[in-house]
Amino acid sequence: MIQLKDVNKTYEDGFQALKSISLDFQDEKINVLIGPSGCGKTTTMKLLNKLIDYTEGTILMNGKNIQEINTIELRREMGYVIQNIGLFPHMTIFNNVAAVPKLLKWDKKRIEKKVHELLTMVNLDPDTYKNRYPSELSGGQQQRIGVIRALAADPDIILMDEPFSALDPISRDQLQDELIRLQKEIKKTIIFVTHDMDEAIKIADQIILMKDGEVVQRGAPSELLANPANDFVKEFIGPKRLLTHESALELRRMINTDTPTVRPDESIEETLKIMIDKQISYVPVVSEDKKFKGIVSIYDAIAQSAGSVKEITHNPPELIREGHDAAEALNIMAGSDASLFPVVAEDNTFIGVIHNHDHMKLLEENVAMQGGSAK
Ligand SMILES: Nc1ncnc2c1ncn2[C@@H]1O[C@H](COP(=O)(O)OP(=O)(O)O)[C@@H](O)[C@H]1O
Ligand SMILES: [Mg+2]
Repeated sequence: MIQLKDVNKTYEDGFQALKSISLDFQDEKINVLIGPSGCGKTTTMKLLNKLIDYTEGTILMNGKNIQEINTIELRREMGYVIQNIGLFPHMTIFNNVAAVPKLLKWDKKRIEKKVHELLTMVNLDPDTYKNRYPSELSGGQQQRIGVIRALAADPDIILMDEPFSALDPISRDQLQDELIRLQKEIKKTIIFVTHDMDEAIKIADQIILMKDGEVVQRGAPSELLANPANDFVKEFIGPKRLLTHESALELRRMINTDTPTVRPDESIEETLKIMIDKQISYVPVVSEDKKFKGIVSIYDAIAQSAGSVKEITHNPPELIREGHDAAEALNIMAGSDASLFPVVAEDNTFIGVIHNHDHMKLLEENVAMQGGSAK
């Protein structure tokens, strides 16, 4: 674990960049340092790998003061990825990735195996790319090399200072997805700097929000969204994101997950009994592997009376996807007079239903909330 205790940093010109910062970075998680330009993010990163010294306080790594740890050994435990990639332009991709293992005098076979493994991990075919030069790669590909170069010597900690901010939005989005996927395999302690709240919310296990050299709030993205500590946090997150989060929570609360369902091969007779017993006019049809198949209405069940459910199963007028933007889901419901909205996951797994009377209540609250927010 990395801990900062009352750390101050005053630069030579007397500017105090960090004001008594105390915080823990969580092991094997993505810790995101975020805040406006000049708030001290890069300064914090530089202190961690001893590029600069702090003025007061203590930094502990696994309980040991970093001042007592040999600088070279400390840096060996930390991969560093920066915004402008910093690949060596006159070295091939292979040699770029192999740079640190070579310094560490790994044998040739081991280095080759590692480079191959890392390139494959970020979906770059080793045979195609290893002999190319950085200028022969796109920005997104270069930044992937930057990331795996930091991983090459298998450090426990990866420091990433705005690694994706120079990329176009699509490459950026892809690299974020890859980092999330990669982290599931490699489980490093990642300290990731950004000034982009969308990026932070997407990738962070823990967000540390800074302002003017101080930590303003720290917690999981959902915690910051649910309980912003003050107006600065609210403003930094933005009213739109807060509102979206609110409605997403509301939406989740409205889903009734223990609603009755029937199997496609259930008899219509039995289904009718269930519907009368539960006093419902529609019932979702869900297969054994929990996939949503459609709904059955009591009118069709009465009209047909014999046979099995799959013969009278039809698509519902509206379907809510779990990952759906809550505002969009509300829109769908507002424009519909269906009495029941099935909710399914991206892979069509049935989750539950929202009843019409619940969504009317939510709409009212939401409208009230929108009316209350700044306009
Ligand atoms: N070497 C330096 N001397 C004086 N002030 C510095 C120096 N490096 C950074 N600063 C100042 O410290 C503050 C924090 O900088 P930095 O940590 O780079 O911010 P950011 O959060 O944008 O990464 C800024 O106001 C910056 O101007
Ligand atoms: Mg910076």
